[in-house]
Amino acid sequence: MKPSIYIALDFTTWKETDEFIQMHQLQGLPVKVGMELYYREGPRVIEKLKANNHPIFLDLKLHDIPSTVRKAMKNLATLDIDILNVHALGGRKMMEQAKEGILSGSSGYQKETKLIAVTILTSMNQKEMNLELSLTGSILANTVQLSKLAKESGMDGVVCSVHEAPQIKQACTPSFLTVTPGIRLEESNRHDQERIATPRIARQNSSDILVVGRSITEAKSPYHAYEQINKEWEDK
Ligand code: C5P
Repeated sequence: MKPSIYIALDFTTWKETDEFIQMHQLQGLPVKVGMELYYREGPRVIEKLKANNHPIFLDLKLHDIPSTVRKAMKNLATLDIDILNVHALGGRKMMEQAKEGILSGSSGYQKETKLIAVTILTSMNQKEMNLELSLTGSILANTVQLSKLAKESGMDGVVCSVHEAPQIKQACTPSFLTVTPGIRLEESNRHDQERIATPRIARQNSSDILVVGRSITEAKSPYHAYEQINKEWEDK
């Protein structure tokens, strides 16, 4: 898959989203649609973005019993988009069924939808993971373990932090996709993220796809922020 930066369209309405894209000349760039926008606008937001040629990552992070996830994925597959995802913590059966749903729902469509699994959210730190989720060991060990499970379950890659990407590639395969949020141009503004990194480090650590929200959407000039991130990422 082509290395890309997906802009997280974390807005509430299509109107707000469209104004942002038009005003800052971001037409046609890869975008990520999350729960906030999708739960308000539904599939028509995807149709509108597709009509404007945006590659799309629909970030709904499914996590339910296997048959429910399979049927939901079958429906989502008909949207014919680039990337969909589930939580790896849903387990092997759930991920296998998610894949089956995509395959059965996408026949006859043009795109080969990539299915990826969220490992440990980038907003979580080691202490929270150990104490609140009762997952022992380090974040790195858990993300690598969940990535191996995701690969065995037929996923095309994982969502992880930049810091875990090299070990995940090593444990899975270099072609196993690492999709990395938590990107910041400077490390000073974390917002609610814990495991952050700059675009330069993302490239050094072999991230395949960067997901960038507030570093672009809250910038004085979102277009320049996008360009700067792209440049840093491509410069190595
Ligand atoms: O604003 P920021 O760049 O932190 O936004 C990151 C985006 O990536 C958000 O839309 C968030 O939902 C998403 N995301 C994440 N961590 C994950 C999976 C998705 O931050 N593990």
